[in-house]
Amino acid sequence: MHIKELLSYSAEQLREVTDIPQKEAMILLAHVLGCETSWILTHSHNEIKLDEHFFELLKRRVSHEPLEYILGKASFYGKEFNVDSRVLIPRPETEILVDKAVELARELPQNAHIVEIGCGSGIISIMLSLLLPDAKLTAVDISMDALNVSKQNAQKHGVDKNITFIESSYLDNVDGNIDMIVSNPPYIANAEPLGIGLSYEPSLALYGGSRGDEMLCHIVDLFQERKAKALACEMGYDQREPMRLYAQSKGLEIEFYKDLASLDRGFWIKEKK
Ligand SMILES: C[S@@+](CC[C@H](N)C(=O)[O-])C[C@H]1O[C@@H](n2cnc3c(N)ncnc32)[C@H](O)[C@@H]1O
Repeated sequence: MHIKELLSYSAEQLREVTDIPQKEAMILLAHVLGCETSWILTHSHNEIKLDEHFFELLKRRVSHEPLEYILGKASFYGKEFNVDSRVLIPRPETEILVDKAVELARELPQNAHIVEIGCGSGIISIMLSLLLPDAKLTAVDISMDALNVSKQNAQKHGVDKNITFIESSYLDNVDGNIDMIVSNPPYIANAEPLGIGLSYEPSLALYGGSRGDEMLCHIVDLFQERKAKALACEMGYDQREPMRLYAQSKGLEIEFYKDLASLDRGFWIKEKK
């Protein structure tokens, strides 16, 4: 079979799964061949003999398994991170949370202690460690499986010595002073049906309680209890009003940010001076 024929067959299989079937077919083939997609484009008339592996991966993608799990990697903030079904796939909007956290951290002492609740693949803590090399980072997750992935990623990006990873529900196992809390917690309501793609991701990373904002509210409580100076969280597009009311009930001033689609996507709170 020619590469061109294989690509058009694969793209046809993927037509119902993705908006970019041709591109995904090429990415899968490049992954199996261990080459760049640009090589495939320039060699599309070459004959190719493939073993079952390519067709197994294609079948997984046809079943709506996310491409990132199939490839074992995802891109975030221009860097590559290892991912698998133990962790949430990094979302582009979470880059805005990283930027917001960096902005808040610039108002803190240089060696501030920043704690991330629910580190998953580690993307947030690792980026914060790279962008704020003097900060002291602690990354916690309730899932040991997720912590193993984040430790692997920290090693990959050379910051494993700068981040303390702790298995913990919220801040239960984190002692001492905390300057800033950062979190992209699960925030989907338990009863909300998930799309087929999301069903491959760990439910522990998605569901935030019967309303969906329970974890967010508890993190606001912890910000107050632990007397942190700043808090930055990602949230659902429809959680602005409940979070505004919750912060108000606690006497806190909350501010919100939007994502690139102009949807409400997160908030930050600073200590009252
Ligand atoms: C939405 S994912 C975010 C992962 C990663 N920070 C990101 O932005 O891609 C939420 C993470 O919170 C973790 N988690 C859920 N409940 C938790 C709890 N009570 N304490 C700490 N982590 C928790 C999950 O295991 C999951 O890794």
